[in-house]
Amino acid sequence: MSWWPFRRRRRPGSSTEKAGAAGTRMVQGRRFAAGVPYVLPKDMQEVNRLDFQHFMLRQVRRGNFEAPVREPHDVLDLGTGTGRWAIEQALIWPNSNVIGLDVVPPPIDAGADQQNIRPPNYVFVPGNILEGLPFNDASFDYVHQRMLVGALPRDRWPGVIQELLRVTRPGGWIELVEAGSAYGGGPALATLNEWGISAAASRGIDIAMGAQIGSMLQSGGAANVAAHEVFMPLGKRGGRVGLMMEANYFSALENIRPLILKMGLTDEATHTATLAQARREVAQQRSGVTYYVAIGQRPSA
Ligand SMILES: C[S@@+](CC[C@H](N)C(=O)[O-])C[C@H]1O[C@@H](n2cnc3c(N)ncnc32)[C@H](O)[C@@H]1O
Repeated sequence: MSWWPFRRRRRPGSSTEKAGAAGTRMVQGRRFAAGVPYVLPKDMQEVNRLDFQHFMLRQVRRGNFEAPVREPHDVLDLGTGTGRWAIEQALIWPNSNVIGLDVVPPPIDAGADQQNIRPPNYVFVPGNILEGLPFNDASFDYVHQRMLVGALPRDRWPGVIQELLRVTRPGGWIELVEAGSAYGGGPALATLNEWGISAAASRGIDIAMGAQIGSMLQSGGAANVAAHEVFMPLGKRGGRVGLMMEANYFSALENIRPLILKMGLTDEATHTATLAQARREVAQQRSGVTYYVAIGQRPSA
């Protein structure tokens, strides 16, 4: 492609094609990315949840981003998932070059989605953020990373922030968006959260790191850091948004179940009953999920 502005970095012993790309493996009948600690599946059920969450967040946040950027020239979306965010930004910013990076290609790049338009200024690049990004220093004006808390071991966060800063141009912006575990509800919701936290912890992942994205950007050396929280109600007490959030959160709880069962933390029948009880709890008692948003700038040279 003629606009491609970067040189891919070759890693010793791996071809450019294979660098960073992961295969998949089955766990309890669901397909997961292989070779990375990521805790959620990579199948159409999870693709649908991620798309649903994308549309919900776009509506609640009144847009896809908060950094003060205007049609940035080169844009990177890390852990692009379904590619929905990257593709929308490529359509909204026709003069931008938008790259989505992930260990597994989005359906539109894997030939599994004939419905959606693939804009010419969007490109997918396979890569594993835990192996370093295949881009030169200062390649992007805007780097976006959303919902990677279930993918990044606690002790890898500082290195990942440095990698984001490295590929961002001086004066360019980084935007991070994460979520925490649900609060409120009752004992069944608390049990589901504990199982999820244990499954993640077995891979070195700390779900609570999402709350620290602002402070991590700050301590990593970003300038003009601003962070805020978005409170999302859970359950019908929270109206339309509460019902959307319930659909999203309980789908995520179902999707992490294969790892919980594989670890022997509970059995399928108990998990199913606990999910049903937690749904009753959020219908009756106050509960919610906090999303965290942080932006920061690579200091000008
Ligand atoms: C929860 S999804 C979020 C997707 C998208 N950012 C969104 O907000 O809809 C996390 C994504 O990170 C990807 N991922 C997990 N580990 C990764 C890694 N080490 N390097 C790059 N991407 C990774 C997964 O394949 C998945 O698509």
